Amino acid sequence: MEFSTLTTTSLHQARTAALAVGLFAEGQLSPAADIIDQASQGAVRAVAASEFQAKAGTTLVLRNLPGVTAERVVLVGLGPQAEYSTRVHARAERAFAQACVQMRVPEALSALGGIDCPDSTLTSRAHATAVAVGQATYHYDATISKKDANPPPVLKKMAVWASRAQAAAVKEGLRTGKAVADGMALTRLLGDLPGNVCTPTYLGDTAKSLAKTFKTLKAEVLGQKQIEALGMGSFLSVAAGSQEPPAFIVLRYTPAGTKAGAGEAPIVLVGKGLTFDSGGISIKPAKGMDEMKYDMCGAATVLGTLRAVADMGLEREVIGLIASCENMPGGRANKPGDVVTSLSGQTIEVLNTDAEGRLVLADALTYAERFKPAAVIDMATLTGACVVALGHVNTGLFSSDDALATQLLDAARQANDAAWRMPLDDAYQEQLKSRFADIANIGGPAAGAVTAACFLSRFTKAYAWAHLDIAGTAWHSGEKKGASGRPVPLLTQYLMNLAPGAQ
Ligand code: BES
Ligand code: MN
Ligand code: ZN
Repeated sequence: MEFSTLTTTSLHQARTAALAVGLFAEGQLSPAADIIDQASQGAVRAVAASEFQAKAGTTLVLRNLPGVTAERVVLVGLGPQAEYSTRVHARAERAFAQACVQMRVPEALSALGGIDCPDSTLTSRAHATAVAVGQATYHYDATISKKDANPPPVLKKMAVWASRAQAAAVKEGLRTGKAVADGMALTRLLGDLPGNVCTPTYLGDTAKSLAKTFKTLKAEVLGQKQIEALGMGSFLSVAAGSQEPPAFIVLRYTPAGTKAGAGEAPIVLVGKGLTFDSGGISIKPAKGMDEMKYDMCGAATVLGTLRAVADMGLEREVIGLIASCENMPGGRANKPGDVVTSLSGQTIEVLNTDAEGRLVLADALTYAERFKPAAVIDMATLTGACVVALGHVNTGLFSSDDALATQLLDAARQANDAAWRMPLDDAYQEQLKSRFADIANIGGPAAGAVTAACFLSRFTKAYAWAHLDIAGTAWHSGEKKGASGRPVPLLTQYLMNLAPGAQ
C-alpha cells in the first residue's frame, strides 16, 4: 500500500475514484463534507436529512455528483458528535477502506482525519488511518490454488487530505502507521498459515528473512542441540512428543548507528510459538482443534512487532525471543506426572501436558535475564480460561509492576487494541503446589488464566515483567476465521511511547 497526502483546498476538484467525507449523526457535516455539499449544491445535506443516519462505521456511496470531480463520494458515518473519538475515527477509516476494497477501486482519498477529537492528534489519526487500511486490505491466499474465486484487493494507493501546514504531521503518522500495518499483515499471515507449513523452522526462516530485509535486525535460530546445551529442559519436554524440530529464535533490533547493548537497557518481547497444540498425551477434543494452529500467535506478534519497529526506525533496542515447537502425543512426549527441570533450575511437575505454553515460556523468560532488560513482556495464547473471563474483546494483562501495567494500558487505549488488567495476588500461588516438584504446571479449574500467569511469574523475578494472554484476541473463529494481528498495535504503541524519536 502506498500512502500520500493531498493538500488542495479545492477538495471538490480532487481527482480520485473514491473520496471519503465524514458526517455526524445529528446531520452535522465535517468541513470536508461541507465543501462537497456546497460544490454539489446540497447533495450531501439532502441525503443526511433522509436516507443516511450517519451511524458510526456505516457508509453510503454517491456517484457522479454535479460539481465534484471524484468518481464516487463515500459518506462515512461518525455517530454522535459528542461521542467522537479516535476509536470512532479508526472505525470510519476501516469502513471506508472496506468499501473501497468491495468497489474494487485502485486508489482513493480520505478526508476523514481532519476532525479534531480530544484523545488524538493529527499524527496519531494518520497513523490509525494507515493501520485501518492495512487491516482492510489483508488477503490470504497462500495455500489456495484457485485464486480467481477470491481475488486480492486492487486498492494500492490511499491519499489523505490535509492542509499544507498539517502535511508533515500527517506524513509522519502515515509512515509509522504503514509500518504497523505491514507488521500486522506478517503476524496475520503467520497465524493463518497451516501447521504443516508454518513450523518452528518456518518461523526461524521468517526471522532470518526479516534480518536480510532490515540491516538493524539480527537473527539467531538455535536448534535442538543448542537448546539442549543451554539446559532448557522444560521447553524441550514439550518438543519431545513431535517429529518436528524445535527452534529458539533470538531476533535483535538495534537502532541504526548504535551498538548492540550500548544504549538504554533493552525491552525484551517473548512469544509462545506452538505451531500446533494437540494437547499432547492430555489430548484435546477433536472439535475446533484446527484452531490450535494459531497457538503460535504470540511468536507471530513478536515477529510482526519487530518488523514494525525496524521499519519505522525506533530509537530503542528491542529483543524478540521465541520458543517454538509442536505439542504432540508421541512416544517421547511428556506424560502426566513427569517432572522436568527448567533452565532456571526449578523442577516442574507436568500434571497436564496441555498446559504446555507455560513450560516453553518458562525457559524463554529465564533466557531473557541475560539481556538485563528494562522490561520483559511475553505474549501467549495461553489459556482457554482467559477467553472465558474476557471473551474476544480484551487481551488479559498481568503484571506485578504497576508502572509497566499503566504504560501498557495507556498504549492499548491509544492504539485501540483493548487490554484489561487481571489480578496476580500471591494467594493464587497456593494452587500451584506440587508434592513431587518445586511447582505444578496446573492450578485447578479456578482462575485458570491467573494461575497460568502466576506460574510464569516464578521465572521473572530478575526484571520488570508483564504477560499478555491473547487466547481470545489473536484470531477470530467461525465464518470469518482468521488471525487479527493483535496485539501488534498495542506493543508498537508502547514502544513508540518509550522512544518518541520515531513518532
Ligand atoms: N493453547 C491453549 C490455550 C487456548 C485454548 C487458547 C483455547 C485459545 C483457545 C493452551 O496450551 C492450553 O491448552 N491451555 C489449557 C490449560 C489447562 C490444561 C490448565 C486450557 O486452557 O485448557
Ligand atoms: Mn495446550
Ligand atoms: Zn497451547
